[in-house]
Amino acid sequence: MKQQLEKIRQEALDALGAVKSADELDALRVRFLGKKGELTGVLKMMGKLSAEERPVMGLVANNVRAAIEEQLEKTRASLKEKALEAKLRAEAVDVTIPGDPVRLGHRHPMNIALDEAKELFISMGFEILDGPEVELADYNFTRLNIAENHPSRDRSDTFYITDDEEVLLRTQTSPMQIRAMERIKNPPIRILAPGRVYRKDEVDATHSPMFHQIEGLVIDKGVTMADLKGTLETLIKAMYGEDSVIRFRPHHFPFTEPSCEVDVQCFKCRGAGCPTCKGEGWIELLGAGMVHPKVLAGCGIDPEIYSGFAFGIGLERMAMRRFQIGDLRMIFENDVRFLEQF
Ligand code: DAH
Repeated sequence: MKQQLEKIRQEALDALGAVKSADELDALRVRFLGKKGELTGVLKMMGKLSAEERPVMGLVANNVRAAIEEQLEKTRASLKEKALEAKLRAEAVDVTIPGDPVRLGHRHPMNIALDEAKELFISMGFEILDGPEVELADYNFTRLNIAENHPSRDRSDTFYITDDEEVLLRTQTSPMQIRAMERIKNPPIRILAPGRVYRKDEVDATHSPMFHQIEGLVIDKGVTMADLKGTLETLIKAMYGEDSVIRFRPHHFPFTEPSCEVDVQCFKCRGAGCPTCKGEGWIELLGAGMVHPKVLAGCGIDPEIYSGFAFGIGLERMAMRRFQIGDLRMIFENDVRFLEQF
């Protein structure tokens, strides 16, 4: 019997030494120490021993059990430690591996052109104003001296919000002239008001029902057409280069008198005429003029004391010239292959 017990001890310790998983460990525990296990099997035979032998065998059996239990515990602990080590190794973060590159976006060409214009006008002492895209007809037309029967008021040209045609999507940023005069009240006034405007135009390479304008307004004592010319010349040279040639051409706007349109000589053909300028030699950039006395008076500014100039620039057109973009639609399509070029 003693030999049997020693054999169990030896087998158990050998088997435990080779254990690789918690499952194997548990199977061994059952095999050697379980109710139907090998050790229990031997102990059951104790009854057959003599009274002298029994305590001696009992001692041996207890020693074997203790030895197996001890080894079981040791093996369990070392398995646990190995599992933890493996987990730590598997979850280890290698801080030296280069990260996934984050692709940074950048400014839209329209914002680049707008920011350049803003910066320039801020440097000349202008304040940037923001105003509503849903505007009153009163501000968009009437107070700008635009007659009741003017074609631009037509439903085929203007998006009206209300049936009584009192509220609309502004067709120009010029109503910001009125809002600026109302807000600032006492000249000097020097504002720049960029923003969206809306007209019922079909989409094509040069038209969109939504586009952007930059409105400028300067009012003070003794402001003249020379100030207007100097300001716009500064803008255009900053945008298109010092060697730009500019032309002021008489025009008509109801809210300025006199009014003009400003063209820049085609930078491609230098005035000879080419496809870029549609054979004209000149490219139209903006409308401008001296603020009409009626408009000033309507805003409570005495035209006998003050005078001013105003201008309205199409921002898309400016960005298209600036970045040689041939089709207006590309500006709004948001194709990253296009946008990434700027
Ligand atoms: N608002 C005009 C347009 O959309 C452009 C314009 C012309 C603005 C003359 C002005 C101006 O401020 O003085 O066609």
